[in-house]
This record gives sequence, structure tokens and C-alpha cells, in this order.
Amino acid sequence: MHDRVTAIAHSNIALAKYWGKRDVKRNLPSVGSLSMTLSNLHTRTTVVRDDTLENDSIYLGDSPAPPSFSNRASRFIDLIRELANSQDALRVTTENSFPTGAGLASSASGFAALTLAATRAFGLELDNRALSRIARVGSGSAARSLFGGFVEWHRGEAEDGSDSFATRVAPTEHWDVHMLVVVTSDEAKSYSSTDGMNLTRDTSPYYDAWIRSSETLLTEMRQGVLERDLTRVGELMEASCLRMHAVMLSATPGLLYWNGATVELIHAVRALRSEGIEAYFTIDAGPQVKVLCRPSDAKTLARRLGTLNGIKEILEAGVGPDAYLEPS
Ligand code: PMV
Repeated sequence: MHDRVTAIAHSNIALAKYWGKRDVKRNLPSVGSLSMTLSNLHTRTTVVRDDTLENDSIYLGDSPAPPSFSNRASRFIDLIRELANSQDALRVTTENSFPTGAGLASSASGFAALTLAATRAFGLELDNRALSRIARVGSGSAARSLFGGFVEWHRGEAEDGSDSFATRVAPTEHWDVHMLVVVTSDEAKSYSSTDGMNLTRDTSPYYDAWIRSSETLLTEMRQGVLERDLTRVGELMEASCLRMHAVMLSATPGLLYWNGATVELIHAVRALRSEGIEAYFTIDAGPQVKVLCRPSDAKTLARRLGTLNGIKEILEAGVGPDAYLEPS
């Protein structure tokens, strides 16, 4: 059997952050989160179901993926094999539209594209909500990459995770805002997000406060996005980011994902804002800074931020589409 399926999923950046798991195995979050899907930054994954293969074969572009990558992908494909009641192995080729080694997490778009392509290759036709429930197990943020526009991943209450999936808050065309991705390092993450989340839960005295405050922030963020209120969304996005990094820093040992350029960028974004350019920063589990702004300000911002020391690259993205299958 040789069914070839290609899927494309776009990356996303959380405006209201997820940090903390209520169930590590099922990958259930302790807090809900809300993201913007990014145009321009996507993963394209082709899957061929091959019953003559013994094991999955996983390629990153033209090269075999390193074992850490293929083992994680293969364990994830096991879940889909189980759902489809199949033993067949997959040939998977995956590539990112953004430079690999740019220090950008590709797990969100990567697991979303793999979920869509692999479920189809096994003959499963699932809606985005069901797909997001599966993608969630590969990487939490991947649950949000099945949808375009503005997307909420629900914390859910059920022990089995059945109510922890993503839904659309607003479609791609709802609001034309841009995100600059300012790359300050191309080194791999010092501490994986799963290890970081577990350490934070186990050792931070502020963990409960983070969980409690996230819920209110998420409700306000949803409202801000629906009203297309850049000031409100931007201020909430910075608050969510800084609270998340505060709880990371308060773990033992403290988790510090920033470098010097990250801090310079925070100051620069705030200085530009005081000059009247509405721009807001957010930072994930790494040193890159993402800047939310009006499309008409993006070029000026990129030029001004690009003059700071330690900036490797600046990518610009608008609001991206749903994950989709390429016509075969
Ligand atoms: O998807 P994961 O497990 O790599 O976790 C992502 C966590 C953050 O990027 C820091 C925040 C978020 O909500 O995307």
C-alpha cells in the first residue's frame, strides 16, 4: 500500500501562554491558552504508508532525522496507528519554510502537519477539533496549529483529556496584525519545555498564583482579540509573557531562557512604544522575541530593532490559515 498524503500547518505564537501540565502522559495543560497562527512560517509534511517497511523512516528534508527526533515522531505515530488499528509503518518527509537552526520551535507546526497527514494516510477523516486532541499529545502548542486565525486551546476538566482541544476564536481575516520574529540565537533550547514545566510545578512557590491569574487573563485576552483592541491585547500579551517567565525564574534552579539581546529588545520595544509606535513583545521558552504590531509599522520596527546588537534575523508574519492537505 502506498498512499501519499501531504499536509501543511502553520506555526503559532501564544498571546496568552500555556506553562504547566495537569497530566504529563496525556499532555493536559494546567491553564488554557490563546494564540495567533502565523502566515509564512509553516511545516510541510509528506507521509507514505508502506506495509513493506519494518519501522517508520523519518526525513528532515533530504537527510534522515536524528534519533531523538525520529523516536519522538515514531512514538507519536504509534498513537495514530492504534486509533486506526493498523501495524503499517510510515515514510515521513518533513520540512520547514523557516530556516532550520533559526532557533524557532517547529514542534507546533510539525506535530500539527504530521497529525493531519498521518491520520489521512491511515484512512481516518477527523475534524480539526479531534485532530487537535491528537496533536496535543505530540506537543501542546501543536493543538493550536490545526486552526488558522486566533485559536484557544482549552484546559478542559476531564481526566481522559476529551475536553482539552483547540477551537477557533476568530478566523484569519478577522484582524490584520503582524508578528515580527526576532531571532537572537540559533542554539538549541537549554531546557525542554516539558522538563521546564515539571520543574516549575515541583519547585516554584509562585506556581499556584500563575495558574490562578492565567484564567482571568485568558478571558480578557479573548475579549480583546474579538474587539481587535491592539492596546489591550498587547498589554495582556506582555503581562502573560512576563508572568510566565517570572514563574520559570522562581523554580529551583531558576529557568532563564533569555540572553542579553532578549533584554535589549524588551527595552527597545517599550522605547519605540513611548515614541508612538504600538508594538508589544512576547517570549517563549527560548531567547527569541516576537513583536506584535500593526502591519503598517512592521517595516519601521524591523529596521529599528535590526540595529541592536545580537540580532541574527527578523522574520515577519501575518495571521495564518488553517492546516490543510495539499491536493494530490
Ligand atoms: O508546545 P510545547 O510543549 O513546546 O510548550 C510550549 C510552551 C510555550 O511556547 C512557552 C507557551 C505556549 O503557549 O506556546
